[in-house]
Amino acid sequence: GVFIALEGGEGAGKSTQATLLEQWLTVRGHTVLLTREPGGSAVGSSLRALLLDPATGAISPRTEVLVYSADRAEHVASVLDPALADGQVVITDRYVDSTLAYQGAGRAVDADDLEWISRWATGGLRPHLTVVLDIDPVDGLVRAGSEPDRIESEPLDFHQRVRAEFLRLAEGDPEHYVVVSASGTPDDIHAAIRRAVEPLLVGVTTR
Ligand code: TMP
Repeated sequence: GVFIALEGGEGAGKSTQATLLEQWLTVRGHTVLLTREPGGSAVGSSLRALLLDPATGAISPRTEVLVYSADRAEHVASVLDPALADGQVVITDRYVDSTLAYQGAGRAVDADDLEWISRWATGGLRPHLTVVLDIDPVDGLVRAGSEPDRIESEPLDFHQRVRAEFLRLAEGDPEHYVVVSASGTPDDIHAAIRRAVEPLLVGVTTR
């Protein structure tokens, strides 16, 4: 299969772009699975509610890492691995880099610890391509809406560290990342993502 992750800060339009990409791939004859973290598996739905509900309040950064990682471990085992083994094109709205950006840069959890925890949780599964939708958090938080969840409620400088980390990750590994500015029209952004994804589809069997 082909494994694509969409990453980015709040209000970057990831879910819109994930849907547009899914539709385009489906029209081209691919079997596509669109999923997300947290919440892409059965148990993950409960973990997502726990993680994002403002009523959960503050939890220790280590706890937060472990719950996001638990969601991810279940997502890999029950959803991602089987779909990829079946030859599908899998799009996930967020993956490991969200932990590196939000818990690493945002909450200052040690990057080496996040690396081994993530590798263990995923069994080493990594995306063929990660699309970073880049947006200034000043604009993104407005787009994200007026009822912020537990993470969106973090201060602006938290979200600025998150943004910087996504860009740093992408810069360090240009073969596996593409950064697309989220400030264009949805169609322009979609076209840029298509251009980045197209080379991965060479030789992938279609229906
Ligand atoms: P979203 O998918 O609707 O953007 O919500 C997920 C929220 O959880 C978002 O604020 C980013 C945050 N998050 C983390 O802090 N760490 C993670 O590992 C993941 C997957 C998401």
